[in-house]
Amino acid sequence: MIGVILFVCVYIYSPNSVNSYVMTNYNDSVVRRVVYPLTSASYGTTPELCLKDIFADGQLVRQYTVLCDRTQKHTCSGYLAYSTSAQAIFLVFRGSSSTEQVNEEFLETVTTFPISFPLGGRVNPYFFKALQIILTSGLEQDLIYITKLLPGFSLWVSGHSLGAGLASLAAGHIAYKGYVPPSQITLITFGQPRTGNYVFAKTIDKVIPNTWRVTHRKDLVPVIVPLYAHHNREVWYNNSMAPGQPFVICGTDDDQECVMSGSGHNWDDHSNYFNVDSYFAVNGCKNIPH
Ligand SMILES: *[C@@H]1O[C@H](CO)[C@@H](O)[C@H](O)[C@H]1NC(C)=O
Ligand SMILES: *[C@@H]1O[C@H](CO)[C@@H](O)[C@H](O)[C@H]1NC(C)=O
Repeated sequence: MIGVILFVCVYIYSPNSVNSYVMTNYNDSVVRRVVYPLTSASYGTTPELCLKDIFADGQLVRQYTVLCDRTQKHTCSGYLAYSTSAQAIFLVFRGSSSTEQVNEEFLETVTTFPISFPLGGRVNPYFFKALQIILTSGLEQDLIYITKLLPGFSLWVSGHSLGAGLASLAAGHIAYKGYVPPSQITLITFGQPRTGNYVFAKTIDKVIPNTWRVTHRKDLVPVIVPLYAHHNREVWYNNSMAPGQPFVICGTDDDQECVMSGSGHNWDDHSNYFNVDSYFAVNGCKNIPH
């Protein structure tokens, strides 16, 4: 265990490898050991625990948790953090917190017209409104402040499930506003539902090239939303995602040969990525899958 932690620290702090690093080629170990744990930590109320397990100098700016839909019952959440040694800012979004919330998302998605997205295209109304509420609850101001304070840092935007949709929209919003040059952004999503229409997908492809949409075996969520389209670049693990398992870098957008292929799509493959439960890091992530 100590060996694993030391190894993680050594490669994180190695000045030539990760500082201001942008993931132009998909790297399983960076995603498995850093981005996915930080994403899982968003399901709890103390993401700083996992942050500090990965980066000794990790700083949580704030976690933003807000009522985010017309039921006034469900919350959406994200957090902003950074590490000076890694020269990286992290913006992470949590997935749905209950089955009722998933049902409400689906209902609103199929009964409401997609909303025009300033960067391009139209997007899921539930996700769009939720992001606006999170932004106005303080995230927008903090993003402006932090990105001015830490110019040249890379920005990692991530999320799982609903959080994946929010991450995709947030990265698009940040690129549109110019808070961080798109070339410094790495967008990584896990089990992302289709988030916008074809024009939106093509816009993300063009504006945010370092985007990785990780999918697991027969995860239901990436295939379930009708009418909308996926953006690049799907990375499909057709296996348990245990350490050492292979992945495929898929073709463009809605590749029919990756997560979309076959039948028997299910929730189990949605709630378990990298062979750990999506909540595994809520109390810290010393037990990072390795
Ligand atoms: C993945 O990233 C780590 C840390 O930067 C690096 O040591 C490793 O060589 C990379 N792996 C590949 C396959 O590029
Ligand atoms: C995915 O894995 C299953 C089980 O190993 C296999 O039957 C199937 O052919 C694989 N699908 C693709 C498209 O590789």
